[in-house]
Amino acid sequence: KKVAVIIAAAGSGKRMGSGIPKQFLEIEGKSVLVKTALAFSQNQYVDGFFVVTGKDFVERTEELLKSMDKFMGIAVGGAERQDSVYKGLEMLPEDTDYVLVHDAARPFITQNVIDLVIEKSVEKGAAVAAVPVKDTIKTVDEQGVFTNTLPRDQLRCIQTPQGFQKELLIKAYKKAFAENYYGTDDAVLIERTGFPVHLVDGDYSNIKITTKEDMPMECRIGTGYDV
Ligand code: C5P
Repeated sequence: KKVAVIIAAAGSGKRMGSGIPKQFLEIEGKSVLVKTALAFSQNQYVDGFFVVTGKDFVERTEELLKSMDKFMGIAVGGAERQDSVYKGLEMLPEDTDYVLVHDAARPFITQNVIDLVIEKSVEKGAAVAAVPVKDTIKTVDEQGVFTNTLPRDQLRCIQTPQGFQKELLIKAYKKAFAENYYGTDDAVLIERTGFPVHLVDGDYSNIKITTKEDMPMECRIGTGYDV
């Protein structure tokens, strides 16, 4: 079975506020993007990975990844994450059986979690890494008044990678676009087709770097952040 990975790196990074896109910030001497890409490059099941990046960052991305094992190419992203991932799906080789989608902004992904997602998606067709919610989650109205407190034991924080049988994912994407539906992850598009998506244990360390607080302190110094 052939496994291809799409790494979504075409976000604007507005919530980070660092000036440079977060995938080029460095942690322990390596850029976030290189750390993320290396995890897939080194995975036992992965045959190749693609990166989707903003149009102004194609050359820089190419430069960082061109000599990395299993690097297959770059797609230019779109306005929403869903548009970006679809650009990656369009680049997949014909013989791809399973697709993993991963956020470039999750550089702490472990081999164990990648393996679990691939194994479960091969077994079941669709699998997602997730961890139990630690905080209490409430909904709120426009006046700032809480309207509902959700039962925490039924809630999960959804991570990436998310793995799918390729044709299933492409069909789910086409349905979403046809209905003008936009989701914040890939699994929701599969859920909307009625196909069950299975959970595997993610890792609390597999955070999505979103705001400056998510960067280790030593990486914030000298980057122009207000630390
Ligand atoms: O915006 P969000 O935090 O959901 O982004 C998750 C991942 O998707 C990030 O790695 C980001 O670079 C990517 N993304 C993308 N194209 C967009 C928006 C986000 O590839 N238009």
